[in-house]
Amino acid sequence: MPVLAINGGEKTRTEGWPAWPPDDPGFLENITKVIESKVWGVSGEWTLRAQEMMAEHHDARFAAACASGTSALELALRAVGVRPGQEVIVPPYTFVATASSVVAAGAIPIFVDIDAETFNIDPAKIEDAITDRTAGIIAVHIGGSPADMDTIMEIARRHDLKVIEDCAQAHGATYKGRKVGAIGDAGAFSFQSSKNVTSGEGGMVLTNDPDVYSRAWSVINVGRVPEGGWYDHRVMGWNLRMTQFQGALICRGIELLPGHFELRAKNGDYLRERLEEIDGVSLQKLTHPDNVSAFHLYIFSYASEAFGGLSRDRFIQALGAEGVPCSKGYNPLYREGVFSDKVHMDQFPFCEPYYAGECDYSDVVCPACESVCDERGFWMSQRTGLTDDQAMDDIVDAMLKIKANLGELTEA
Ligand SMILES: Cc1ncc(COP(=O)(O)O)c(C=O)c1O
Repeated sequence: MPVLAINGGEKTRTEGWPAWPPDDPGFLENITKVIESKVWGVSGEWTLRAQEMMAEHHDARFAAACASGTSALELALRAVGVRPGQEVIVPPYTFVATASSVVAAGAIPIFVDIDAETFNIDPAKIEDAITDRTAGIIAVHIGGSPADMDTIMEIARRHDLKVIEDCAQAHGATYKGRKVGAIGDAGAFSFQSSKNVTSGEGGMVLTNDPDVYSRAWSVINVGRVPEGGWYDHRVMGWNLRMTQFQGALICRGIELLPGHFELRAKNGDYLRERLEEIDGVSLQKLTHPDNVSAFHLYIFSYASEAFGGLSRDRFIQALGAEGVPCSKGYNPLYREGVFSDKVHMDQFPFCEPYYAGECDYSDVVCPACESVCDERGFWMSQRTGLTDDQAMDDIVDAMLKIKANLGELTEA
């Protein structure tokens, strides 16, 4: 009789995982208030309140709400002064928007490898990538776990570069006791459906710099300036405004965030501890022991040699069958079609450097990122952490069960 669920045995976990977005009456209450207010868009109170709450929660002076995390990144890059033709250093282990926003700002993403254990950009490799065209660095707090900000800021200041934090996955995360978002020159947040605070779609730029704020605000508001009139368009801008409905959902989401954050972190700590029982699986390492991850993702590192050579892909198939759903996650961004196939670029004038042959990622090799993407990395979503010790035990027990029954598994 087979034991592993993938072969027809009993599942380790039969209970499901929590829903996301969470069931909470506060969302509906706020949305109803927006409907009744008759102010659904510009000049409403809810986006202003969402900005205030996000800024306060992240110890930032200013917040500018916008349409998405992708637009927040592009706005942040423009607002800190990144110009066409300049280069911006980014990690290749992240969502595509981290790099495509650089292209949208007319600049060129330069990929720098990640650290194999923290999965964040490896600061030791940044300086080799700096040229006289480098304007900035995007520090992605991947999975919600803060990048090594002190080292990144020190390098940036020494080379007169701007730092953008990609906080799309890191609402409320702390780096050495300090909230992420305004440690660098600007921080970009996302409120897309899966995010730890969500309004379906939406984004926000946080900063302590009044000029960065006002430039971002202008691009969001069709080129108006904060101190100017309605038909007073002084800079080139788009309409990237957030609706009051999104603002209302975010306000409730930020109220729920501290409780969710604490629960995800508590479960993350317990999971980390229990994983010590398994040779060959561990959780993403923090860049500093005092950091607290937002655990948007529970990112695992897998060593197939500790599982008799069982591939990561087969391991996560078996885990899924046990009731523990996992994803193998990203591909190295420089391998994605958008960066490797220049044909797609020629419809966008700002991609000139690509089809002029200036940008060619075919020789880029980031060994740590490739080993994580191809063989070692996998993750579970933030819903995983909105559970209890039993759920964490189920994850570890499923892994132990697979290890004890490796003989049942052949590669698919
Ligand atoms: C790391 C990272 N950066 C940027 C984004 C883009 O955010 P959005 O989907 O809101 O445009 C996302 C999420 O989707 C992300 O995970």
